[in-house]
Amino acid sequence: MEPLLKVRNLVKHYGKVKAVDDISFIVREGMCFGLLGPNGAGKTTTIEVMESIHKADSGEILYKGKKIDRKFKEQVGIQFQNTALQEFLTVRETLVLFSRLYTRHRPLDEIIKICSLDEIINRDNQKLSGGQRQRMLLGIAMISDPQILFLDEPTTGLDPQARRYFWKVIEDIKKENKTIILTTHYMDEAEYLCEEIVIMDRGKILESGEPKALLQKHFGGAVISLPEKDVNGGLDLDCTPVHKDGYLKIQCHDTDRTIQELIRKGIPLNGISVEKPNLDDLFIKLTGSSLDAVRNGTGGDDR
Ligand SMILES: Nc1ncnc2c1ncn2[C@@H]1O[C@H](COP(=O)(O)OP(=O)(O)O)[C@@H](O)[C@H]1O
Ligand SMILES: [Mg+2]
Repeated sequence: MEPLLKVRNLVKHYGKVKAVDDISFIVREGMCFGLLGPNGAGKTTTIEVMESIHKADSGEILYKGKKIDRKFKEQVGIQFQNTALQEFLTVRETLVLFSRLYTRHRPLDEIIKICSLDEIINRDNQKLSGGQRQRMLLGIAMISDPQILFLDEPTTGLDPQARRYFWKVIEDIKKENKTIILTTHYMDEAEYLCEEIVIMDRGKILESGEPKALLQKHFGGAVISLPEKDVNGGLDLDCTPVHKDGYLKIQCHDTDRTIQELIRKGIPLNGISVEKPNLDDLFIKLTGSSLDAVRNGTGGDDR
């Protein structure tokens, strides 16, 4: 069966910057698909080409096997990374304003319910918290009752509680069998919400697939963390440890052997933690740098 969306050999430059560098992937109907990567990876450019906001330099996007047409555009709802709102309108007034752009729109009480806007419906846009504002923007994206939702970094900058709240709303929307294309630089978000992901960096795809399958493919064992100060000298391990936030992170293939080696070396294990690897660890493995470092601009490259 034809996938809902097929992205083939997409390339997009901004002047000399190659924002998207020959990427291909598919999005199947009804899935939550995640585009992951640090700032500057090319996520927004990719989805804005998919949304027909930008034209690609080369490559193509196919919708159910055919070139994107008007029908596709009618199926799409977009939550942009940045959106200017009329600050002195209430949430309800804003939803009404946007609903007038469409000949047919989803009943507003359904939007209010699914996006959890009830408590803030009469509040001015300027008085919304970050999480509330993002839920409202999601509501706007859903007004035309689209089958395909593009969400560009919907939880960036939200505190952990607000992010989790937003995830819950997305989970409810997923139950309506909509196809969601989400960009994020939070690996845990992609792991939680997405059935399939593409990991991007510098315009290229580093890996793609189901989060669980990717973790199985790349990691046999666990991730061992030790305070850096407890480890003196080299370790004879079957992997290269990565330094992160004062800890040495060892992605080991054989957890038993690695712990035995640490004991043999006389390294104190009081500060040890052993965890299942997550997509953050996979990003470290693929790029050699942690996403946090890239996010905070300490990753050593000029983005
Ligand atoms: N309008 C633009 N003009 C020039 N360069 C741009 C523009 N938009 C994005 N870029 C550059 O393209 C690259 C990819 O950006 P973007 O797609 O926004 O990445 P992401 O969404 O992953 O942070 C970056 O190097 C960015 O600086
Ligand atoms: Mg972006």
